Order: sequence, then structure tokens, then C-alpha cells
Amino acid sequence: METGSSILHFLMEQSGHVSFHMPGHKGADFYRRYGYDAFLDRMADCDLTEIPGADNLFQAEGIIRTVQERYAALYQVDRSYLLVNGSSGGILASILTAVPAGERLIIARNSHKSAFNALRLGRINPVYAYPDRIEPYGIAGGISLGEIERCLAEAPDAAAVFLPSPNYYGMCSDLPAIADRVHAAGKILIVDQAHGAHLKFFEKYRSNRPPTGLEPVSAETAGADLIVNSIHKTMASFTQSALLNLRGNRVNQALLEDRLQMIQTTSPSYLLMASLDINLELIETHGAELITQWQEQLEHFYQEALRFPELDPLTGLPGFDHSKININAAALGMTGAELESALISKNIYAELFSGHILMLMTGIGNQASDYDQLLEALKEIIRERPQAQLGSPVNGLAEKVKQSKPQILPPDINERKILQPPPERLRKIPLLESAGKTCGIAIIPYPPGIPLVCPGEIISEDDITEVIAIRRAGRKVLGISRCDKVSVGPKD
Ligand SMILES: Cc1ncc(COP(=O)(O)O)c(C=O)c1O
Repeated sequence: METGSSILHFLMEQSGHVSFHMPGHKGADFYRRYGYDAFLDRMADCDLTEIPGADNLFQAEGIIRTVQERYAALYQVDRSYLLVNGSSGGILASILTAVPAGERLIIARNSHKSAFNALRLGRINPVYAYPDRIEPYGIAGGISLGEIERCLAEAPDAAAVFLPSPNYYGMCSDLPAIADRVHAAGKILIVDQAHGAHLKFFEKYRSNRPPTGLEPVSAETAGADLIVNSIHKTMASFTQSALLNLRGNRVNQALLEDRLQMIQTTSPSYLLMASLDINLELIETHGAELITQWQEQLEHFYQEALRFPELDPLTGLPGFDHSKININAAALGMTGAELESALISKNIYAELFSGHILMLMTGIGNQASDYDQLLEALKEIIRERPQAQLGSPVNGLAEKVKQSKPQILPPDINERKILQPPPERLRKIPLLESAGKTCGIAIIPYPPGIPLVCPGEIISEDDITEVIAIRRAGRKVLGISRCDKVSVGPKD
């Protein structure tokens, strides 16, 4: 085999680390366990195009239509659409369907960059809804009903409301209440459930434990109109495959289908669509077993981890999706980045760090042994830490959740920004000279892909400090060139 290409070489060199990052299937073992060896072996043969019998994603009347109908039944929605440009494509299509050009959208300020791209493509004006802040973790919580009500009062003409639930850290919003309120105002609710494709099934197959009342509600059950699910993030399909669910009759279906074909590639990958089919089949036939196992593994993990105050995992908060494991490394006397490195040295890879938080993303493909290895590695790290460096354990976590005062924002968003129209023409200037200038191309720490500064916002000193800190910690920041330049408006 020719491994001269560096991407191929890199991939071929990977030898089975423990994955607590995307995608949710966690590798070939998972598919083999459920009998998909032939598909794995014949992958190149399955990389087909629209030959007779293969149907067409944008005029689905055959095998693709059947899969979409089975997905709609599984999620109990009116229609499901396979997506081959990730949730990003579904988000673009949903916003461009629900909001006519030039109109307003109430949008969570901690939304994914694809939502901000939709604003630019559709010349849509945002009205920002700000998330709660979870203390002492310093991460964004859900968007409260009160915040949605504030935005509805500020923008009674807005066509729709868009928010992520769960957000990157697993915090969900009170979607049933929000959906009722948004619908009462005659608007469309779009939920970015990229991180919560599993929630509908967590609801369906609860493990034996009685419900606590704190469990998140999926956007499908809550009654949202358009729901975008990254099946690849937590479930069993390949990276870039996703699903858009449509409920009710508030959304113009013909327009949605037109936007979907506008946004997505004209060569949809049959491998991606087949992986969505596999995920569907797995949930239909082994859903109860797979989801119950996953929930039990999580329960076991939290039970064990909570015995160690140094680990301080986020838990017990209303609407928190426990499939995201957030370890607060502060009690270990470490930053999230340091804990990530310590775990990598033990062959365990996490998804994201932010400040003192390290987020480990579980998926349907994680095995009990993955959680055991993670627990073992964390215990080793506790043992290896010099006693003096251990921080003081944080107790009473649930009480530490507090609603953000309007002026207090999550760390990724330092202040409410004043929005100017995004500049049409751009020039590049050094990052260090950009304070006070109008941002031209979004500045986006990746992951999680939430813009720190959007086009049209004024770049602040705090933003510059944050960018420097994020890069120093080893995370990428999109929108800043290799020679540390940012794009700003021409007049600045
Ligand atoms: C909250 C959120 N929404 C949407 C997306 C986009 O999903 P996809 O990668 O499937 O395009 C992401 C990606 O990480 C995300 O974190």
C-alpha cells in the first residue's frame, strides 16, 4: 500500500487509542460486533453514484425514501432528511428556509459557526439570546425561557428562533417551555441538536433507574419544528452524515427541500448514506440493548468518579446530558489542557478543553472497557499529582448553578457585542492592533466552533487576550492567518 500521502499515512498509523471524541461509533470493532464486516471490506465497491436503483437524495422515491421514512418513524416526526454535509448543511438549510432574506432571527449567541454563516448567506439580522452560565465551571448553560421571552419582546417581528440543545458541554435548554412560547408567538423553532441525536433514544430506553426529573427532553419530543441531528457525533454513522427532522406544518416543506439541494453537494456519498442506514438498522433491532448499556456504563462511571473529589465531574444539573463527561481539572490543580495531555500519555483522547474543563464525549460505540480505562487513568493521575498541587474539592455542585446576570457571559463571549453591518470589503491587520476595529471574518476557537467575534462585532482587548490564551493552550482559532492577522472593515 502506498502511504506517501500524509493524510493516509497519519490515519494508517493510528492504532486504537481509547476514543472519547467524535465520531460516536469509535471504530471498526463496533461495526464488526454487529455483523457489518462485509460492508467494511467492500467499502470501495460501495462508493457508488446514482446508478439505476440507487434513488436520488434530492428526489427520494426509492431506497433513500424508505430510509428517510423509517427515520421519521423512529424519531416520531413528520419527515426526516438524510444529510451528507453534516449538521452544518442542515442548519444552513433550516435557517434559510425559516427566515426570509433581510428579516430577523432570534439566535443563541453561542451557536455553531454554520448558523452565523446562514445569517451572512441570507442577509438575516440576528437578535442574540445569551445562555446561562454554569458556575463554578465557567461554561455556557442552556438558554432560559426568560431570555427567549426577552428576545421575543425585543424582536416581535423575528421569523424564527434558533438555539443549540444540548450545547457542546451537554447543557440543554427547557425546550418544551420554549417551544410552547415560540409557537404561541407564531414563530418557528429550530433546534441544533447536533450533540443530542441520542436523546430521543435515551428517553425511550431509560435504564432501570427511576427518572429524576432532571433528564433533558429531546427537541423532537419537545415539539420543535426543525431539528438537526449529527448522527455521526454520538450515534453510529460516519463523520459528516447527519439527519434533519421536520415536525408539524409551520415550515414550508417545498422551500426546505429546495434549500437542502442548494446547500448540499450534488454527489452525495453513498458510503455516508449507507452508514446512516446502518445506524437506523442498529437502533431498530438492537436499540434497547445498545442504549441501555450506554446509560449503565455512564451511571457506573459517574458513581465511581464521584468517589474522588479531585475529579469533580459535572453532574446533577437540570437538563444536563450525562453522555458528555466534563471533568473539572481545577481540583486536580490542572488546566483542562494539562489533563488532556496527561490522558493522551495514557492513550485516552478527549474531545475538548476550555479553561479548567476537559470534556470527554461518549458515543454509542464506547465499550465498558473504555470507561474502565478512563477511570483507571484518572485514578493514576490523582496518585501521580503532588499532594500540594491538588486544589480544594468543590462540593454542592448543583447549588453552584446560577443564572447569569444579563451582563455576565460565558468565557467564550466576553461581553454583549455591538453589531455593525458586517463589512463588505476587508483588509488584514495584525491581531495585536485589532482592538476597536469591526471584525470582517469570524474569529472562531475550534473546537467548539462558536465564534468569539462575529463579522460586524467590534474586536475588544479581551478578545485578543483570549485568542492568545487559547492558541497558547494548543487550540486552533479560525479566522486568524498564520502570520497573526485578522480581517477587519476597510474604514477602521
Ligand atoms: C453545536 C454544534 N452544532 C453544529 C455543528 C456542526 O455539525 P457537523 O459537524 O455535523 O456539521 C457542530 C460541530 O461540531 C456543533 O458543535
